[in-house]
Amino acid sequence: MLAPGPTPVPDRVLLAMAQPMIHHRTPQFSAIFAEVKEDLKYLFQTKQDVLILAASGTGAMEGSVTNLFSPGDEVIVINGGKFGERWGKISESYGLKAHWLNVEWGKAVDPKDVKKILDANPKIKGIMVQASETSTAVAHPIKELAQFTKNRQDCLLIVDGITAVGVFPVPMDELGIDVLVSGSQKAFMLPPGLAFAALSEKAWKFMETAKCPRFYFDFKKERKNLKDNTTAYTPAASLIIGLREALRMIKEEGLENVFARHNRLARATRAAVKAMNLKPLAPDSPSDATTGVYVPEGVDGGKLVKYLRDDMGITLAGGQDHLKGKILRIAHLGYIDTFDIIVAISSIEMALRKFGYKMEFGKGVAAAQEVLLEGYK
Ligand SMILES: Cc1ncc(COP(=O)(O)O)c(C=O)c1O
Repeated sequence: MLAPGPTPVPDRVLLAMAQPMIHHRTPQFSAIFAEVKEDLKYLFQTKQDVLILAASGTGAMEGSVTNLFSPGDEVIVINGGKFGERWGKISESYGLKAHWLNVEWGKAVDPKDVKKILDANPKIKGIMVQASETSTAVAHPIKELAQFTKNRQDCLLIVDGITAVGVFPVPMDELGIDVLVSGSQKAFMLPPGLAFAALSEKAWKFMETAKCPRFYFDFKKERKNLKDNTTAYTPAASLIIGLREALRMIKEEGLENVFARHNRLARATRAAVKAMNLKPLAPDSPSDATTGVYVPEGVDGGKLVKYLRDDMGITLAGGQDHLKGKILRIAHLGYIDTFDIIVAISSIEMALRKFGYKMEFGKGVAAAQEVLLEGYK
């Protein structure tokens, strides 16, 4: 499984989650929660609390909007793919005024374009962006965007790190990110069902005046409960027990090594698709979470993905919206290593041959091997 979420779940995590159920209002569960709470700060590279919500990643996105803003508030939405678009849709659902900055799919936002909108609209209170736009396999320039907000008290940088946290560095405190959200089915090596949100002190202050309606995703209430090692409502206890194990694995590997592994797998995949003469979707600012490529002329990308999955047992992702049937996304985040990439590239070579694409076998695999060998002493 090399899809950009859900990702494979390690046996250690599966076994932890298979333990008999325990009650969540007990010292036993609180001890697990306390460990998870600290380790999440390590993963998010922050001193702030990381809220744990029973939701998919979108829940944390929605909570960020409703807890920080009021109807009529102006925000910039960087819309360079499906998930950028989602920030805009959520914002407008709650009556915010979104300034849509449309970015061509496959390209990263140009910070100068953001600055222009900010300068022309001094009332803007937030910039919403993806660190890794999964639908287009692009990494947006978070560090550059943070320069616009970090010395202002009246404007937040809100980052969807759903396929970035635990993949490549998004050091929240160091960069001055105000909100960083993520989801369990990505680099956390867990099944879907948990969403995370970390907020800067500045963001917590925004909450004092935010008037959007909210109930379940009430960050203030969650933060108060987090202090007591619990959640406001029944937590997804099994997932949190699995999260403890996954975070232990990440700590054992070391965050720097986790980032280096993802980067190596990403570079190997990019080298492989280049050697296969496939056109990259995001040549200038690729995300280390996923590699996107156009399928060759005359090949139906939808059928290719289906063939790989149903006949070869390899789950990759296709394209969304206007890229449907046109691209292949090879994800390399989470519990993925060298030989998963070799298998994926090899299967793509074989499947493409079946679909009539003329290419020498082994070219992509060899290019990947050259990079992957760096991971061994
Ligand atoms: C960058 C990004 N943002 C948001 C989401 C939405 O998350 P979920 O489907 O967990 O709600 C995803 C899911 O793939 C994503 O990759």
